[in-house]
Amino acid sequence: MSGLVYFNGMLKHEHEVAFWALDRGYLYGEGLFETMKAGRGFIPFLGEHLSRLFRGMDVLRMQLNISASKLEFALYQTLHHNRLKDAYLRLMLSRENREIGSFEPGDATNLVVLAKPLEKPPRRLYGEGARARVIEDFKISPDPLCQVKTTNYLRPMLAQRMAQEQGADEALLLNTAGHVAEGATTNLFIFDGEKIVTPPVSEGPLPGVTRRVVIDLLVKNYVPYEERPLRLQDLYTAKEAFLTNAIKEIVPLTQVNDKSIGEGRPGSETEKVATLFREEIQYRFESFESKRWGVD
Ligand SMILES: Cc1ncc(COP(=O)(O)O)c(C=O)c1O
Repeated sequence: MSGLVYFNGMLKHEHEVAFWALDRGYLYGEGLFETMKAGRGFIPFLGEHLSRLFRGMDVLRMQLNISASKLEFALYQTLHHNRLKDAYLRLMLSRENREIGSFEPGDATNLVVLAKPLEKPPRRLYGEGARARVIEDFKISPDPLCQVKTTNYLRPMLAQRMAQEQGADEALLLNTAGHVAEGATTNLFIFDGEKIVTPPVSEGPLPGVTRRVVIDLLVKNYVPYEERPLRLQDLYTAKEAFLTNAIKEIVPLTQVNDKSIGEGRPGSETEKVATLFREEIQYRFESFESKRWGVD
């Protein structure tokens, strides 16, 4: 059975969703998207994802006459009508034009939500840790487009493909200053002694939702943390490192360019962060359930 897709206010079967050929997401990559994880029928970081989407809409000067609560409803509706509890959700916005070659703002904004059963990442990623390779062909520049999740996803996609061709799980990308900015689909954290360090957004990484949640948890739990530029050498000498992403959450990073990080296996410091993260999800889930059932 084909899945149900939310398309501009209606749920349709996948094969019924058709796009206008002059959709500017298709013509120019002029669109935004969010990938989110749902667990037990709940989307724990929905607020953070929608905030990033709205910031992206400001940058792309995109209009959508729909409130945040209607967007939430669209996501939950798609989840429930597909009878999914643990799911991968993808929300996409793109602009559409009636004329080709026009740089006018466009006539309408298309909103699509997909929900798919969650495919668990390979256990090896958590048991042994991820292997990364630095891909130097594409550089991150700290311009406003790096701050938003646009449907022009060529750089991460090609970098990831190149890293995988070289046997790695994730590509690491450098910025124009030669610093390590982020993974192709992840944000990067290292343990420098007792301190957790991640590149600031001014270095060009996408402001990841998971990154934001992790930083807030570190601050709340008085864990020493710093945002500063990272050189590749910092990774080689790090005690531990990890990657963050909304679907994979916290993934230990144990190897870069065939060099082991720390002891070359997932470490206890990363596990502590992963525990804080899991507890946050559980806390949000319980608050959501108690509101749903009207329990205080
Ligand atoms: C380039 C890039 N950096 C970082 C991330 C991690 O962001 P999030 O935690 O919101 O998934 C992603 C997510 O796909 C990404 O594409």
